[in-house]
Amino acid sequence: MAFLFFLCLLPLLSSAHRYPPSNPRLKKAYVALQAWKHAITADPKNITGDWSGPLVCNYTGVYCTAALDNPSQMTVAGIDLNHGALQGSLPVELGLLSDLALLHLNSNAFRGTLPGSLKNLTLLYELDVSNNQLGGGFPSVVLELPSLRFLDIRFNSFCGDVPSCLFDLPLDALFLNDNHFTFSIPENIGNSPVSVLVFARNQITGTCFPKTIANMRNTLHELIVMSAGLRACIPPEIGQLTKLRVLDLSHNGLVGNLSGTIGGMTSLEQLDVAHNKLSGEIPGSICDLPHLKNFTYSYNYFSKEPAR
Ligand SMILES: *[C@@H]1O[C@H](CO)[C@@H](O)[C@H](O)[C@H]1NC(C)=O
Ligand SMILES: *[C@@H]1O[C@H](CO)[C@@H](O)[C@H](O)[C@H]1NC(C)=O
Ligand SMILES: *[C@@H]1O[C@H](CO)[C@@H](O)[C@H](O)[C@H]1NC(C)=O
Ligand SMILES: *[C@@H]1O[C@H](CO)[C@@H](O)[C@H](O)[C@H]1NC(C)=O
Ligand SMILES: *[C@@H]1O[C@H](CO)[C@@H](O)[C@H](O)[C@H]1NC(C)=O
Repeated sequence: MAFLFFLCLLPLLSSAHRYPPSNPRLKKAYVALQAWKHAITADPKNITGDWSGPLVCNYTGVYCTAALDNPSQMTVAGIDLNHGALQGSLPVELGLLSDLALLHLNSNAFRGTLPGSLKNLTLLYELDVSNNQLGGGFPSVVLELPSLRFLDIRFNSFCGDVPSCLFDLPLDALFLNDNHFTFSIPENIGNSPVSVLVFARNQITGTCFPKTIANMRNTLHELIVMSAGLRACIPPEIGQLTKLRVLDLSHNGLVGNLSGTIGGMTSLEQLDVAHNKLSGEIPGSICDLPHLKNFTYSYNYFSKEPAR
């Protein structure tokens, strides 16, 4: 009896030795990860099978480093459960992972929304919850994450408006595509320093792309607005985006002429305006773009192809 008791206690003793309770960060992480494990309703790949016991740094998908503000303490700095096929929800206890810098959850089946407690994650730099079943309004907690640079919420069921202050954040990349957002591109879009901006397959309302888009001239490399219900005009200012390499405006309801200023986008490699209602002549300036590899303009009402 006593021997059995000792055997059961052994794993506890050895882990207590490795992570003495003097590390409150890992204790909080333990609480958070156990709560999460309970909120996971299906785990076909048995990813959380080893999520037990206090050695959280050994859990599959959990990565520890020395804490920034106390290098003698280990802390959970990253969680990568990409392609985990996990079902369930994101519990409020995730707010206890206050040293988390990376949270990668793409290609799972998490439902619900991002808990407001995530605002505790002041070091969070990359947040990727793409390809899940999250829903509700725009997850506004992301607006409160001061370190956030990479935000990927594509392929979910978020709906409603996109808050304009999103474009005031110092992000490097923003993926909103394949949701159910209905929004007009706000005037302050030009404040956004992103290099990649993907709006595709949402519903964009409003009349014109703001002229302030020209303010993104030094940073924007990719702009993808395909299948977004755009009926609006594309202002000539777009031609000032001289760093842009990929512009996809296909499968919208764009009308009128294609602006000749597109010929000023000297870095352009891919240009797709197919499946719109554009008319007139294709500006010859497009053919002079030095890096253009693929220009797709089928399914429009262009009267004349550019002469080379
Ligand atoms: C899941 O993983 C744990 C720990 O890695 C293991 O003990 C358990 O047998 C696994 N379960 C299944 C169903 O494979
Ligand atoms: C847990 O991680 C420690 C290092 O932190 C390592 O020495 C040990 O082998 C790991 N245990 C298991 C079961 O993976
Ligand atoms: C936020 O972090 C603090 C400090 O780490 C912690 O005490 C608190 O419980 C956390 N709040 C939430 C909602 O997780
Ligand atoms: C469209 O382009 C044609 C020349 O291709 C020009 O005559 C016409 O004025 C343009 N229309 C608009 C609305 O810019
Ligand atoms: C050019 O782009 C179109 C649509 O963007 C794509 O379908 C096609 O495969 C591309 N062609 C080449 C040669 O890359």
